[in-house]
Amino acid sequence: MAYPPTLETKRLLLRPYDLKDAADIFEYAGDVETTRYMSWDTHKNIYETLDFLNGMRIRYENNTTLDYAFVLKSSGKVIGGGGCFDTGEFPHTAKIGYILNKAYWGQGLAVEAMSAVFDYLFNTLKVHRIEAYHYAENEKSGKVMVKLGMSYEGTKPDGAFVRGAYKTLKFYGILNFQFSAVKTPFNFVSG
Ligand SMILES: CC(C)(COP(=O)(O)OP(=O)(O)OC[C@H]1O[C@@H](n2cnc3c(N)ncnc32)[C@H](O)[C@@H]1OP(=O)(O)O)[C@@H](O)C(=O)NCCC(=O)NCCS
Repeated sequence: MAYPPTLETKRLLLRPYDLKDAADIFEYAGDVETTRYMSWDTHKNIYETLDFLNGMRIRYENNTTLDYAFVLKSSGKVIGGGGCFDTGEFPHTAKIGYILNKAYWGQGLAVEAMSAVFDYLFNTLKVHRIEAYHYAENEKSGKVMVKLGMSYEGTKPDGAFVRGAYKTLKFYGILNFQFSAVKTPFNFVSG
């Protein structure tokens, strides 16, 4: 069984998901605006969120994910989540993603959380490369990737067919040796 270790930043704790997080997660996973750029469907009810959490427990037990709940330290609320959702190509490549409750957008929290994940993947697990993509229209996500030090690597026109529509994908990546030079909120804090 391999639950990922808790990580800490200035404003957040990153810890494995727990069934007790369902109500907080449903707040954003059940929101159409927040989930419109995700590859998965908006949760229709809290039972779908509980299914997600049960699936996550199995994925932790099988060591196939390094996904975290983002907990705001000041309130204890789960305000988002993210991490490496697929460890299948470890230690060569880690594929990452993230989502925040929209009430917490515009505060630098996604970059703060993912900086800690990058630090763990690169400096502790010695992953060689981290990669991600976003739908072309989701420019906010591209800004997060750039702030994390990732480089734009290319566009795949109509690269995915999601919920009845083609989506153009924009790909980003960063190699281990490039990360130490990036001044993210996380490695500013840790020096
Ligand atoms: C993508 C997503 C996580 C981005 O959230 P975000 O809050 O914009 O991202 P950040 O944490 O990087 O915050 C950056 C913003 O906070 C602002 N900010 C405010 N205080 C800040 C601080 N103390 N430190 C850093 N930035 C701060 C920045 O200026 C920036 O605003 P801008 O984008 O208008 O320039 C969010 O839009 C989301 O959850 N979307 C839905 C899910 C999704 O699309 N996931 C990605 C799929 S590929």
